[in-house]
Amino acid sequence: KFPNNILLKEVGPRDGLQNEKSFISTEDKVEWINRLSDTGLSYIEITSFVHPKWIPALADAVDVVKKIKRKPGVTYAALVPNEKGLQRALEADIDEVSVFMSASETHNQKNINKTIDETFKVLRPVVQEAKANGKTTRGYVSTVFGCPYEQDVSIEDVIKVSEHLFEMGIDELSLGDTIGVGNPAQVQRILDELLTRFPASQLAMHFHDTRGTALANILASLDMGITKFDAAVAGLGGCPYAPGASGNVATEDLLYMLDEMGIETGVNQDRLLAAAQWIEEKVGRTLPSRNLQVAKAGCQT
Ligand code: HMG
Ligand code: MG
Repeated sequence: KFPNNILLKEVGPRDGLQNEKSFISTEDKVEWINRLSDTGLSYIEITSFVHPKWIPALADAVDVVKKIKRKPGVTYAALVPNEKGLQRALEADIDEVSVFMSASETHNQKNINKTIDETFKVLRPVVQEAKANGKTTRGYVSTVFGCPYEQDVSIEDVIKVSEHLFEMGIDELSLGDTIGVGNPAQVQRILDELLTRFPASQLAMHFHDTRGTALANILASLDMGITKFDAAVAGLGGCPYAPGASGNVATEDLLYMLDEMGIETGVNQDRLLAAAQWIEEKVGRTLPSRNLQVAKAGCQT
């Protein structure tokens, strides 16, 4: 028996755009986020307060947050790597602060220039201060299913980082298949362990679709009672510090599957497809979403 309702967490404006070579203008980002806000999505990760030198595509984070039209009922979130990022996030008045780190040491160091232990020390006051300012907080663990530098990642390492993040006070944990190497049996093994420690209601899954296994992994997660999934419109995305990583599962592909299964999300497929097509034109190349390409071809079932 699958859950009746699923919360789709749109990460396209952050995970999707962070790897883009061409700079999408602030006005276009704002327009796109406003369109996404009108699709029925209730959670959108819209930017990242990381160092602009590391992620130039999102250098306009403060402006983007200040300029969007905030739709009541929608949570607007952003990545925050450290105290400096938090100050920018508070200045912009983002709703939710998402801290992030990796289960594998090498990816953590390449991505945020700190060891895992150093990162715990950096993030703890960030989470506390965000909460003291009335923000909800999310933690990401990357490389849960495999690391581009160390290959296999042990479940003990995933548990260690997850426990530290929850102990800091995060409200929710997102488990990242950063390089899209996971498979459904691995999903079962990992969730079997994590669900004995943390409730399903505090876990989200974040699958990149590099090798085409994202929907299968989502189905395995649904089967185990997970009700929150990250996805990116049009299948945009990737981590610049994970070579070869490609986009998140496309939100509209996931939505199609959930709609057909009779699982409620509150998201309108036509509006989502329109927002996908809009950003595809801005990015200027064909994006991986299957449902977008089907819609463009005018196919009807
Ligand atoms: P660092 O160079 O070690 O930073 O970078 P630092 O603390 O040594 O500071 C150096 C200078 O940078 C200082 O300025 C700071 O003020 C400034 P100076 O005093 O020299 O003039 N600085 C900042 N400026 C603006 N905003 C900031 C900031 N922090 C420091 N936040 C840092 C460390 C973490 C900042 C850097 O490594 C960084 O920005 N990394 C970002 C990497 C990134 O965004 N990766 C992609 C996101 S993670 C992901 O995609 C995975 C995920 O999707 C889940 C999954 O798929 O698995 C979430
Ligand atoms: Mg990601």
